[in-house]
Amino acid sequence: MTSDAGCPTMDKADILSWLRETDKTRLKELWRVADQTRRKQVGDAVHLRGLIEISNNCVRECGYCGLRAGHKTLRRYRMSADEILECAHKAVAFGYGTVVMQAGEDYGITGPWLADVVRRIKAETPLAVTLSMGERPEADLVAWRKAGADRYLLRFETSDEELYRLIHPALPGRPSDRIALLRSLRTLGYEVGSGVMIGIPGQTYDSLAADIDLFRTLDLDMIGVGPYISHPATPLGSREWKREVPAGQQVPNTELMVYKVVALARLVCPEANIPSTTALATINKATGRELGLMRGANVVMPNLTPVEYRALYEIYPAKACIFEDALTCHGCLKARIVSLGREVGVGPGGRHGSKTGTSLDPNAKM
Ligand code: 5AD
Ligand code: FES
Repeated sequence: MTSDAGCPTMDKADILSWLRETDKTRLKELWRVADQTRRKQVGDAVHLRGLIEISNNCVRECGYCGLRAGHKTLRRYRMSADEILECAHKAVAFGYGTVVMQAGEDYGITGPWLADVVRRIKAETPLAVTLSMGERPEADLVAWRKAGADRYLLRFETSDEELYRLIHPALPGRPSDRIALLRSLRTLGYEVGSGVMIGIPGQTYDSLAADIDLFRTLDLDMIGVGPYISHPATPLGSREWKREVPAGQQVPNTELMVYKVVALARLVCPEANIPSTTALATINKATGRELGLMRGANVVMPNLTPVEYRALYEIYPAKACIFEDALTCHGCLKARIVSLGREVGVGPGGRHGSKTGTSLDPNAKM
């Protein structure tokens, strides 16, 4: 395995054999090449993206997610524009180049309302703005891009259509096609991020290899992956919905499998921004973030959400950082980056080092 421009020749069969690899010496080689590729392609800077979880309302019924509409005992919140702006100013004070606004699919957040919030952030700060608002109608995506949003995150979760349909019911009359949505986000001029959960019940090695291959086909600018973490208040967590797979085919939701996918993502998309995710930090609170950063990742997402809302953004249980405040997460992540001998990134840190993510010209190659 060479590491020149990642591994453009790595095919699905190679990916699959890495996912099944158990030999420690060979895995060390995978980590080494992923780390070397990361250094060569995106450098030693670790970019900080300040995460603001702006609403935990959601109209969807995803079988895995604690924010699903059917989770009736969860107390719901939606942040005000002023609260969001306060977080954005905190991001600037902490030296972050980007804020990521994330929410459930919440139509209480209207297109024009969020466009206004984006415009305010762009007018009052130098921040790049990333949105992660679910499968919104095209008109909203257009309005937010016009307002200045630079990037959009939408994980496709799994490329296995049957599994996707089982765990992610469509809204009545609106089939869910996240791959098509990712393509139209790109046409609108967004930098585009996606990713998957690892170890979803019913997920096979074959389908996970296809997911990683699809990262390359989509030429993703950002790739976020993390372990599936069972939430007892969901149909997948309670085993109410299940899909059996043949013996030996189920992908485990282990830390090791997450590192393999992070490393392979780096090799198939050498220039991508890849976070060491909170879900990974949740299953290894001591060193998960660091090991992700040592095996291909170059981004972390310190949480800026006000403490009173954090525990309510319960996508999965025992999430890392629900009791910490923004300053604590900031100090914690900076110290972890420095302990690795890496530097904290400055500026927006878009793909190709672009100043504010992407050009507004939808025909520009990103
Ligand atoms: N375990 C791990 N990740 C989850 N997500 C949602 N529910 C879970 C869970 N139970 C991830 C999905 C979603 C992202 C915001 O959080 O991949 O896209
Ligand atoms: Fe929040 Fe470490 S990142 S406490």
